[in-house]
Amino acid sequence: MPLANDPTTAIRDLTTAIEAELIAVRRDIHAHPELAFEEVRTAGVVARELEKLGIPHRTGIAKTGVVGLIVGGRPGPVLAIRADMDALPIHEQTGLPWASRIDGLMHACGHDLHTTTLLGVAAVLNKLAPQMAGTIKLVFQPAEEAIGGMRIMLEEGLLENPKVDLALGFHNGPDIPAGRFGFTHGPVLAAADKFEVVVHGVSGHAAHPHTSIDPIVGAAHIITQLQTVVSREVNPMHPVVVTVGAIHGGEAVNIIPDTVVFRGTVRSLHAPARDIAEAAIRRLCEGALATLRVRCEVDYTRGVPALVNDDRVLLPAVAAVRSQLGEVIDEAGPVMGAEDLALLFERVPGFQLRIGSGAPGRADKLHNSGYAPDEACIGLGVQALSRAALELLS
Ligand code: NI
Repeated sequence: MPLANDPTTAIRDLTTAIEAELIAVRRDIHAHPELAFEEVRTAGVVARELEKLGIPHRTGIAKTGVVGLIVGGRPGPVLAIRADMDALPIHEQTGLPWASRIDGLMHACGHDLHTTTLLGVAAVLNKLAPQMAGTIKLVFQPAEEAIGGMRIMLEEGLLENPKVDLALGFHNGPDIPAGRFGFTHGPVLAAADKFEVVVHGVSGHAAHPHTSIDPIVGAAHIITQLQTVVSREVNPMHPVVVTVGAIHGGEAVNIIPDTVVFRGTVRSLHAPARDIAEAAIRRLCEGALATLRVRCEVDYTRGVPALVNDDRVLLPAVAAVRSQLGEVIDEAGPVMGAEDLALLFERVPGFQLRIGSGAPGRADKLHNSGYAPDEACIGLGVQALSRAALELLS
């Protein structure tokens, strides 16, 4: 097939030619989901497909990651495009012929779509490489759900040889119909921190509270006070979530226990709000010694930072999607989920494209056992990302 001269037609024709094959690859990956850092078979499929395309690649990065390289015919910047590969501990209930064959595991976040989409981008850009400027680094990342894969890939030198200048990421979204796309200026996903608080009291008989220090009453007051972190301490224009998701303490109705433990998560989009929330949680917990006589040990752990899109990458990429597919991309607000693509975007300017995957007449959700995306999102994602890559490198 001769390549069309204009990029719109060339990318569309190249994608159409491989679309059925990509869907077959996706169904194969979907039927064989693997958890974080166990993506051995999936990485094998990726390596096999890159091999078929003649794209040089390295395996075993961050245990099960794969990185491929497409070098253009002219010099230019290096663009990393990242897909995640891991599945979730969910038992699939779609009943589809290509449903998970592994009990209790499912690609319910659509990382099978991501892996396949990046393989499609690899195939298209590999064909266009002679006319392309710069270099594409194809990043197949393990362990996004466990939020650990990107950190290790970076530690193992993902950004070097060749040095990465900018990055593209993407995620499917069943809340957007297949055929449409979304973008968000600035922060798009939250920083995700966690905390554990051990509230120490003094145990004793429930009938003699004056001889004890009650950690249950102490924990109850502290948890209620933690609601003032969002309502009274951070800038209302900076969204923050403080959720206590677990609390454990006590065994019997007639005993005041020695300790209560509670755990929670803090989500934030802006660095100042993140600092204020952490300081306030520590202060409220530690202050309970003066007010309620309970001593708190606070273990606060910072997780991934907020995922922040950079307009230097976003604006040309959004324009490229419009050039390729028309008026199919809309601005959307941020959400308080988190993902470790943020670690990559912390180091190089990047943009995460949202790819609509909603099938007609369905109301699917991510991380749901019935998730059945519209597979048209694969070919459309390939076209959008391939065009965005070409524009960013030109
Ligand atoms: Ni995901």
